[in-house]
Amino acid sequence: MKQEIHLNFESYGSWKELAAADTQLLQAALESAAKAYAPYSRFRVGAALRMEDGSIVCGNNQENASYPQGLCAERVALFSASAQFPEKRIIALALVAESSEMPLSPCGGCRQVLLEYEQRQNSPIRLLMGAANGSVIVLQKAAELLPFSFSKENLNAVSKQAQ
Ligand code: THU
Repeated sequence: MKQEIHLNFESYGSWKELAAADTQLLQAALESAAKAYAPYSRFRVGAALRMEDGSIVCGNNQENASYPQGLCAERVALFSASAQFPEKRIIALALVAESSEMPLSPCGGCRQVLLEYEQRQNSPIRLLMGAANGSVIVLQKAAELLPFSFSKENLNAVSKQAQ
């Protein structure tokens, strides 16, 4: 049986078309990108999380001479928020790469991590994928980015015989 999945998103030409809180979150992500440690790629990325109490937690990419040990901005921000404020829900994540002319889309690994936190808190995390030139794509939940994802449901679905 053939089936389809629809991806819902909004796209804007300028951050200014968004609500003030969203524009502020993108601005915080851009400011965080300037503090990234990215001497190898020189691709500086910033992520900013809006927490349920209105506070903002930022992260940026952290690279290493042993390349695979580096970490993306999204995961630095998400792990930092979860480590410090495990009880606070994340409302939105804004993402932007310095000087980038196209909206930044999270890598597969970061999508997996985002989805885990969205499922853990049982409420959507909005994504604001910004470009430094002003354009932005908005998704209402992280799950939109990762259909057919692997999750704890897969771990729970192991048959009794296999255990
Ligand atoms: N990077 C991020 O921080 N977030 C993304 O969404 C994509 C890629 C980082 C990883 C690496 O430090 C650099 O950008 C180049 O891939």
